[in-house]
Amino acid sequence: MGIISKDFSSDNVKIAIEILGKLSHLGNDGTGLAAVNKKLEIQVKKVPREFSKFNAILDGFLELELNPIIGEIRFATHGRPSLENTPPLSDCKETIFVVMEGVIKDYASKKENLLDKHHVFNSRNDAELIAHVIEEELQSNKDLEKVLLNTANYLDGSYASIIISSSFPHLISIIVNNSKLYIGRNGEGDTYYVASELDAISKYISEYMILNRAIALIAPDKLKIKSLDGKKIDVNFRNINLFSEHRIPGGYRFYMEREIYESPLALRKAMIVHQKQYLELISRMILGAEKIYLIGAGTSYHAALLGGYILRELAGISANVIDSTEFPYYALKDVTPGTVIIALSQSGKSTDIIRAISKAKMYGASIVGILNQLGSPLMYASNLYLPIGVGLEHAVPATKSFLGQLLALYKITFKTAEMNNTIPKEKIREFQDMMHALPALIEETLSIVAARIEEIAKELYERNSMYVSSRGLNFPIALEGALKIKEVSYIHAEGVEAGMLRHGPKAVISEGFPVIAVMPYERDAREDTYSLIREIKDLGADVTIITDTGDMIADKLSDKVIKIPKVDKLFTPFLNVIPLQLLALHLGILRKTPIDAPRGLSKYVVL
Ligand code: AGP
Repeated sequence: MGIISKDFSSDNVKIAIEILGKLSHLGNDGTGLAAVNKKLEIQVKKVPREFSKFNAILDGFLELELNPIIGEIRFATHGRPSLENTPPLSDCKETIFVVMEGVIKDYASKKENLLDKHHVFNSRNDAELIAHVIEEELQSNKDLEKVLLNTANYLDGSYASIIISSSFPHLISIIVNNSKLYIGRNGEGDTYYVASELDAISKYISEYMILNRAIALIAPDKLKIKSLDGKKIDVNFRNINLFSEHRIPGGYRFYMEREIYESPLALRKAMIVHQKQYLELISRMILGAEKIYLIGAGTSYHAALLGGYILRELAGISANVIDSTEFPYYALKDVTPGTVIIALSQSGKSTDIIRAISKAKMYGASIVGILNQLGSPLMYASNLYLPIGVGLEHAVPATKSFLGQLLALYKITFKTAEMNNTIPKEKIREFQDMMHALPALIEETLSIVAARIEEIAKELYERNSMYVSSRGLNFPIALEGALKIKEVSYIHAEGVEAGMLRHGPKAVISEGFPVIAVMPYERDAREDTYSLIREIKDLGADVTIITDTGDMIADKLSDKVIKIPKVDKLFTPFLNVIPLQLLALHLGILRKTPIDAPRGLSKYVVL
């Protein structure tokens, strides 16, 4: 966030803290402010981790007259939650301060280039790059507008940043690169408020505009905006009169809903969060391992299961996939110093997983952690870790983090396949291109399935029990769909391998029993699933089919057909899970359950 007003005012700090409070649902890994004082020096206050500790360090700061002011509440993707990694971050001379939401691409190589030019870095936070690139640019260019444009074009990624400098004390600069930043101004037009969410500043402004790919210079009496190719963008403010602050920022009813709908943006960021050198090191560990385990609990276990399928199919690696709760009883005795355990956990805190890897470490195992929360016990217990970088997830039912876990596993698999020469390089490149198209495809899926899912939910919400079934690569998606339905709607839902339906579960099916069939993409499995649907329909099953737009048969088998966009089989799990998450959400809404906080559950299970 940032504020710039006509006059120095002690109100600015109080308002900045209030705005940060409204952004606090986005992060909990550190809070900081930087502001220009009357002597035109920059003053900084920051505290790592919980926002609640911020007020305690503000002694005297609240009374200061400061202008402009920038601040951030951080979600860590690069660098653990610590004081040195807490924003605002500065250049070498501490004249330029930066806050940023998002991720910069190729952090490590960009940092290397600046280190070669003798820049000194104080953090491992990618946002610090912006301050150093601006510092570097200013050495040969005094035109700040050009400096910002060059910086934006050099630093690719998905981020929104706000910058102040003691060399330009009367303005704030902005760079938005494939992201979103709101600029608002008050009724008098003498104060500008900037934030990554409109809800955070709506109270103070009468009009606003959104920047997605632009630079901006804001002084109290002038606003200049340019696109990243240097063209002038017209200042075009929209009225905010009708806007009232939402309970869930963005106007969603539940965090789960927000997290489903923001998963395309979350994946765009997650796509660039992984640093190449760590992906490579993880693949080396996998290829050098005698035995590999993939472990996790709940949703993370389902991601692990899918990881097992793709590692085997693409990289020729057979990993044992075991849920972390069962690991100590089933697998521990087989663990040797040559064992690598890939441990998945959104929170990085689940006792089951920490217990499993602690025991495995005693038997000599090496640990690769895949986690969303930096600074968590899993991160510290891992030999190598990979952040999934999808942002803070509030709702107990995991949604966007599942997609982030899959993405991390796919990236590890592509790298391992490349290093193991199991797939031609061109094919991997083709897969990577397809992977980059996923955020847009998820957006498309959301828009084409949402209305139909709501209708289907209306038909199913009074049932007590259902099956979610699939085979092959999409079997973990059936398990995940069933888990979501249980958690969110309290309807008993069981994920059943389609072929296994004939081995017992079929006995439960009678007139009206709901079965959600996620069509498999393995050819023989698909044929067999059509037959199976016919069989269970004869028993009276109420079948909903999730398939793709290329399926010509599904419509003949059921009037409840959900169609996702057609993609390569490999990427179908990313799209198939979306209608299931939405179905769980709408079943829960209709059954009036506490969507974000199901009874008896918490975001992570600590025993
Ligand atoms: C998912 O919707 C659940 N809330 C739950 O199964 C969760 O995935 C599980 O507890 C594991 O949590 P973790 O990924 O934080 O370790």
